[in-house]
Amino acid sequence: MKDKLDKLIAAASEAVASAKDQIQLQQVKSCYLGKKSELNRLMKQLGTLPREERPEFGKKINLAKQEVEKLLKAKDEELKSSAYQTALVKDKIDVTMPGRKLGKGSLHPITLAERIIEDVLIGLGFEVAEGFDVEDEFHNFDALNTPEDHPARELTDTFYLGKDVLLRTHTSTAQIRVMETHKPPIRIISFGKTYRNDNDASHSPAFHQIEMLVIDEGINFADMKDMLNLFVSRLFGEKIGTRIRPHFFPFTEPSAEMDVQCVKCDGAGCNVCKNSGWLELGGAGMVDPYVLEAVGIDSEKYTGYAFGMGVDRIAMQMFNIPDMRMLFENDIRMLRQFG
Ligand code: PHE
Repeated sequence: MKDKLDKLIAAASEAVASAKDQIQLQQVKSCYLGKKSELNRLMKQLGTLPREERPEFGKKINLAKQEVEKLLKAKDEELKSSAYQTALVKDKIDVTMPGRKLGKGSLHPITLAERIIEDVLIGLGFEVAEGFDVEDEFHNFDALNTPEDHPARELTDTFYLGKDVLLRTHTSTAQIRVMETHKPPIRIISFGKTYRNDNDASHSPAFHQIEMLVIDEGINFADMKDMLNLFVSRLFGEKIGTRIRPHFFPFTEPSAEMDVQCVKCDGAGCNVCKNSGWLELGGAGMVDPYVLEAVGIDSEKYTGYAFGMGVDRIAMQMFNIPDMRMLFENDIRMLRQFG
């Protein structure tokens, strides 16, 4: 009997040793410990033996079983650790290798132009106010003295998002937002995106404006001219001439448009200024008393001026960008030039 069990253990030991992976080891296990195994068969025979032989016999089988289990367990651990080692070698990462370089971004020409303009105006004593892209009719039209039947309110000119919800058509909305929450004296600028239902070679449905608002006691048209001339000379240089032409805006009275001498040809006439020698800078005027009253500012006591200009064309001139669409296509070859 002892012999038989020793042989069984020896055979199991050999089978365990030759198992190459967990699947084979599992097969060895069921062969030597499973239901149909020799050890199990011997165990079942226990009942047929004389009573006094049974304990001795049972103990021997159990010892043999334990021996086989020990062998299996040792092999199992060995297989697991060698699988781990192989994985370690296979998946090795060289942490000392240099990383992939991330490209450095650059500011968009519109942002650059905005910062240059903003710097000049902050230098002239203005504070920056925020506005909203999404507005209501009160801030975009009503408070700015724009009549109910004004063409700018038409669907063909304004993007409506819903009833009384629209994309602002100009940054003049910031005038109203500021005057609603601040008492004069007011000296602010506000920069942002503006939207109009326009799309051709020289118009984009989304563009950028910068707004200026000054409200105080005793502000007059000459103050406005003086400030705008100073602004232009700081932005384009002392030599650039300006002119003011009469114009109309519902929210200013009197209203004007300001031109600067063409920065490309110094006023001689070229393709940029369409041979006129002048470039349109923006709209301006004395804030209409109706606008002041709409936001609860005493128009007998306070006066002021507002000015609004497009930033996209200025950016094109500053950086020699020939086509407005290039500003919005975000072609990486063009953007990289501003790094
Ligand atoms: N909001 C006007 C426009 O978009 C410009 C403007 C601003 C005119 C301030 C006068 C005063 O055309």
